[in-house]
Amino acid sequence: MTDAGRLARHISDARRVMVFTGAGISTESGIPDFRSPGGVWSKMSPIYFQDFVASRDARRESWRRVFNRTEGWTGAEPNVGHYAVSDLVKRGKVSSVVTQNVDNLHQASGVPDEKVIEIHGNASYAKCLQCGKRYEFESLRERWENDEDLTCIFCTGLLKNATVSFGQAMPEIEMQRAGEEALLCDLCLVLGSSLVVYPAAAIPIEAKRNGARLIIVNREPTDQDPFADLVLHKEIGSLLTDTMAILDK
Ligand code: APR
Repeated sequence: MTDAGRLARHISDARRVMVFTGAGISTESGIPDFRSPGGVWSKMSPIYFQDFVASRDARRESWRRVFNRTEGWTGAEPNVGHYAVSDLVKRGKVSSVVTQNVDNLHQASGVPDEKVIEIHGNASYAKCLQCGKRYEFESLRERWENDEDLTCIFCTGLLKNATVSFGQAMPEIEMQRAGEEALLCDLCLVLGSSLVVYPAAAIPIEAKRNGARLIIVNREPTDQDPFADLVLHKEIGSLLTDTMAILDK
């Protein structure tokens, strides 16, 4: 049986699938991942949350990356991998998409907002760290260009893009929802993650511990491969295209 055939069999047999995605599902949309050769962390260092809060220079650099979109991926579109996941959600096979990604591409591919659990936040808007008020980036650009420290107009708290930085608290509600999904699913399908960043990377293992089957689709080996029921070191786009073709037969 082909890899796509084995994956299709597991998906077909599953009652409730939790899809867990990392940056690897978005590389075919032109968004670099973090740890592949040439990935984001080979070009710039992460800005740690405590540094963002303590240092104006760190905040300026963080906002420079937002306004100059140094990751160079504005306007990225979903790829066949996102659409395959979205299709499985529409068929009622996938109950939730727990994603480490902040690029909004699962929503853009048609997965309803309420089924996307963004455990590392979202890079398309800003939030006040104190009161949580949401700000659209363009409403802040002029103040940033005037070299202002971007603070909330209501409570004067610091504004930051709505992603979760290293050292920043994980979003409580999203982590609770992801934990519930890990408890309820009978198949956890990991797509494109090196599974090295915790507590996010604990979620697939939690599902496995709760009795779910664990399938890892990733170009490179991961530390969690030994615990998986099926490991496919394949390109996500082509594999899911073939898998969906088999499921459609
Ligand atoms: N098909 C299959 N696998 C792929 C593809 C592809 N087209 N493209 C990349 N990959 C694999 C890479 O081999 C890599 O192992 O996806 C994995 C992506 O791993 P990372 O770059 O570490 O990304 P991720 O696992 O999402 O990182 C987790 O780290 O820096 C933080 O907050 C950031 O959410 C991110 C977290």
